[in-house]
Order: sequence, then structure tokens, then C-alpha cells
Amino acid sequence: MSVMDKIQLKAKADVRHIVMPEGAEERTVQAAARIVSSGVAKVTLLGDPEEIKRCADQTHTDLKDVNIMFPGSCRQTETYAELLYELRKSKGLSIEEAAGLVSRNALYFGAVMVKAGDADGMVAGAVHATGDVLRPALQIIKTAPGISLVSSCFIMEMPDPLYGEKGVMVFGDCAVVPNPNAEELAAIAIASARTGSVLTGMDPRVALLSFSTKGSASHEMVDKVVRALQVVREIAPDMNVDGELQADAALVESVGRLKSPQSRVAGKANVLVFPDLQAGNIGYKLVQRLAGAQAIGPIIQGLAKPVNDLSRGCSVQDIVNVTAITAVMAQI
Ligand code: ACO
Repeated sequence: MSVMDKIQLKAKADVRHIVMPEGAEERTVQAAARIVSSGVAKVTLLGDPEEIKRCADQTHTDLKDVNIMFPGSCRQTETYAELLYELRKSKGLSIEEAAGLVSRNALYFGAVMVKAGDADGMVAGAVHATGDVLRPALQIIKTAPGISLVSSCFIMEMPDPLYGEKGVMVFGDCAVVPNPNAEELAAIAIASARTGSVLTGMDPRVALLSFSTKGSASHEMVDKVVRALQVVREIAPDMNVDGELQADAALVESVGRLKSPQSRVAGKANVLVFPDLQAGNIGYKLVQRLAGAQAIGPIIQGLAKPVNDLSRGCSVQDIVNVTAITAVMAQI
């Protein structure tokens, strides 16, 4: 069974309610119908009901079990504006601005809906850029208790079962934090291990990647990774983590044995933590394109309630998959 099949089964076992702010978008409409009819989640689409109906008609989609809310004129809009104002008045937001945001920007309406507990999670990004989806989530839903950083990871499903957990690996952070410091890198490592364990059931073996293995090179960029390892070991002493490791030392058993013989992670890593977003974003796309891996994500980790971002090139099935992931994250 593939990783996604397992996640869908989990989602169906304890159904959650997901809000989709891009309700008048054709792929989203089709995905909503598929999600509801297969029992993966309960869905609310946000948008003008007339426009949503037009999309459904054009795509021959039956939306009978999908909930629709129009932020421009529904009874919750005023309550949500007040909640948004309370949350953001210290940042200078006026009640008029809050009312404008929730009634005209469905991403803000959706984030407040999740914050208020009226939905368990949010999925968007078929139309909007990553930053537009994440900003309301960061401002309104904020980080989970005890967590100070929101980051992301991808589940990579490789055609070759030789690497990671029978071909399944977690890569973090490939989408959110541009230039993490050592403490932030440690937080990304801990969050990525947790996401991997929750969504795939893997026992994480975490490699902090660098261009150096255990002191083979010296540079301030390497020092950051070494310091991140210390921080992870202080915060999560039971975590199976090692670094700094080059990618081959992390992945290939013979190289790992040669370059870092004492390591319990070298040669068998299933969670790869990249030193910054340039490395992470380039790294996952190379593996996706050159090795033919399926890249599931970005999965946003560290928020108090789950919000996940879609690629603007996503397919209907991608939206179904990301919604299933969001629903499983909402179960925790
Ligand atoms: N974790 C926790 N809180 C955060 C984080 C974070 N990583 N980043 C920002 N915040 C908080 C800020 O503290 C601020 O809170 P406040 O308003 O209550 O004080 C709020 O979020 C907004 O912060 P800004 O700095 O205004 O947000 P910004 O405009 O920088 O947006 C974002 C944050 C969108 C995550 C930004 O870091 C970003 O653009 N990252 C890169 C995204 C990207 O382009 N990825 C590559 C493409 S994705 C792909 O290829 C799959």
C-alpha cells in the first residue's frame, strides 16, 4: 500500500472538517466532491455560491454533500471580523480593516474559521502563492504550544526501495524558512521527524545535511549544522539524529560506514534536513525530477491547527491528497 493510500485510510477512520477558500476554482470544486464522496473529509467551500455552482456545472460535478459559505454575506462574517480584530489589534489592525479582510479575502475568513474551531484545517494554494496562504495562518492560527517556528517538509516516495524507509523519506524544510539559524534548523529537524512518524509510521533516523561529514570541512555554514545537532540533542535527547553529514554519507550504507563508522544514522537516514531553503527546495525538485520520486507536500508543520499549501500546478488528485494529509494532522 502506498503512503497516500495509508494516509487516506487514516483520514477516513476519524473524519475531520476542512475549509477550502478557493471555492470557485474548478479543480478545487472537483476535489471537494471526490473528498466528500470517498469519506476522506467533510468540506466547506468558500465563495460566491453562484460562481461555485457555475464551476460545478462546467465540470459536471455534484456538490450535494459539500457545504458552501459566502464570506461576503454569511452570518459568521461579523463574529469572525471581531475575532480577527481581537487577535490583531495589537498589530494596529482596526475593526474596519478586520471586517474588510474576512469579507473580501477568503484566505483570512478560512484561517479565522479554523481558529474559531468551526473547521479543523484549511487547504488552499491552487490559485494563490505560498506566502499568501501562509501569512493568514501565521498571523491568526499561530504556532502550536511550545513551538516557535512554522516550517515544512515533503514526504518523498522513491521508485527505488533501497533508500530511507523502503523508498520513503522525509525532506525538510523545502518551502518555508529561507535561512534558518541553528536553533531554527533544530526545530525543523524535530518537526520533520515528528511529521514523518505521524503520517508514515516511520521510526525517524534524522540526518542534518552539509557539505562536510563529521569535521571533514570547516566553515561557518558547517558550524551552524554542528550547533543545530547540539540543540536537537538538548531538546529531544531520545531522537535518533546525527550530523553534520554529506548526503552520500547519510544515504549509502558503505559510505556512511566509511565516513562516520560510529553513527547510528549514517547510511540509513530516512529524514533529511537541509541547511537552508535554497538547498532544500533545489534538493527535493532534483529528486522528484531526476529520480522520478513522488513529492507529497509541502506539509506545513508547527501550526496550532493544520493549514496546507497547494502548488498552483496541482491536479484534482493532489488536492484530495493534501486534504487527506490535513485531515490526519487535524486528528492529533
Ligand atoms: N514561523 C512562525 N511564525 C512566522 C514564521 C515562521 N516560519 N514566519 C513568519 N512568522 C510570523 C511573523 O512573526 C509574523 O507574526 P506577527 O505578525 O504576529 O508578528 C507573521 O508570521 C507575518 O510575518 P511576516 O514576516 O510579515 O511574513 P512574511 O511576509 O515574511 O511571510 C513566509 C512568511 C510566507 C513564510 C515567508 O517566510 C516566505 O515567503 N517563505 C518562502 C516561501 C516560498 O516562497 N517558498 C518556496 C516556494 S514553495 C515550493 O516550491 C513548494
